[in-house]
Amino acid sequence: MKIRKAIVMAGGSGTRLRPLTQIVCKQLLPVYDKPMIFYPIATLMLGGIRDLLLISTPNDLPRFQQILGDGSCYGINIQYAIQERPSGIAEAFLIGEKFIGNDGVCLILGDNIFYGPLDFFRAALHHAFGACIFSYPVRNPEQYGVVEVNAQGKAVSLEEKPAHPKSNLAVPGLYIYDNQVVEICRSLHPSARGELEITSVNKVYLERGQLKVIPFSRGMAWFDTGTFDGLLDAANYVATIQHRQGLRIADLNEIARHMGYI
Ligand code: TTP
Repeated sequence: MKIRKAIVMAGGSGTRLRPLTQIVCKQLLPVYDKPMIFYPIATLMLGGIRDLLLISTPNDLPRFQQILGDGSCYGINIQYAIQERPSGIAEAFLIGEKFIGNDGVCLILGDNIFYGPLDFFRAALHHAFGACIFSYPVRNPEQYGVVEVNAQGKAVSLEEKPAHPKSNLAVPGLYIYDNQVVEICRSLHPSARGELEITSVNKVYLERGQLKVIPFSRGMAWFDTGTFDGLLDAANYVATIQHRQGLRIADLNEIARHMGYI
C-alpha cells in the first residue's frame, strides 16, 4: 500500500519554550529564516505526499490557515482540524478519522526537522504494512520515546521518556501507519500524564508483530525543536548549510517546483 496522506501535529502547549510560546505558538517560531512548520511540510512534500491535515489549537489554527492557505500555491492540499486540548499526539488519528478514511497515513510532528537523503522515507511510504517508525541515536534518550532492538534490528521494547532508557535510540516524530491505527486509537486510554501516547500506539503494533523500525543513516540530521537548545541547534544548522551551499532548506516554492507540483 502506498501512503499518500499525512497528518501534521502542530498543537500542544509548548511549555518548555515559554515565554516565547505565550506570544506565538511553537510551530510558527522562526528556525533561522522560516517558520518551523515549513520544515516538516517540506519533508512530506519531498516524500511525495500532497494530502495533508494540519491539526492545531483553537487559538493557533487560524494563523496556520493564513500562512499556508489550502496549500494550492505549493501544489498540495492542506485541510485543517482543531484539537481542543493537548490530549496527546495519538489523538491525531481520532480527530483525523474522516481524513484518513480507509487509507494508511503518515504522521509528522510540527516541531521535528529532518534533513538528509529521504530515499528511506519514500521507500517506507511505498511498502506500508503495519507500522513503520524510525530510530536515531541520541545523547539524551530519556527525553524521547525509546526503542530497544535486538541483534537483527527488530524492536523488542518501547518506552515513553523512560528514567532508565534500555537503549540510546530515540524515536523521531515521523511515523507511518496502515489503517489499523484508527481502531487502535479508539481503544487507547490516556496515560498517567493524561495523554493518548503515540508510544502506546506503537506498542500495539509491536505486540501484533507488525512494527518495523528503520534506523536513520548517520548522514541524516534530526532536530526536535521543542527546547531552546534544540531550536538554536536547528537554526544554526540551517544557517550553516544554507551559507555553505547557497541553497535554501525547506523552501516550499522551490520544492513544489522540483517535485513538479506546480
Ligand atoms: P511535545 O513537544 O511533546 O509537547 P508540547 O508541544 O506541548 O511542548 P511541551 O512539552 O514543551 O509543553 O509535542 C510534540 C509535538 O506534538 C508538537 O509539535 C506539538 C504536538 N502536540 C499536539 O499537537 N497535541 C498534543 O496534544 C501534544 C501533546 C503535542
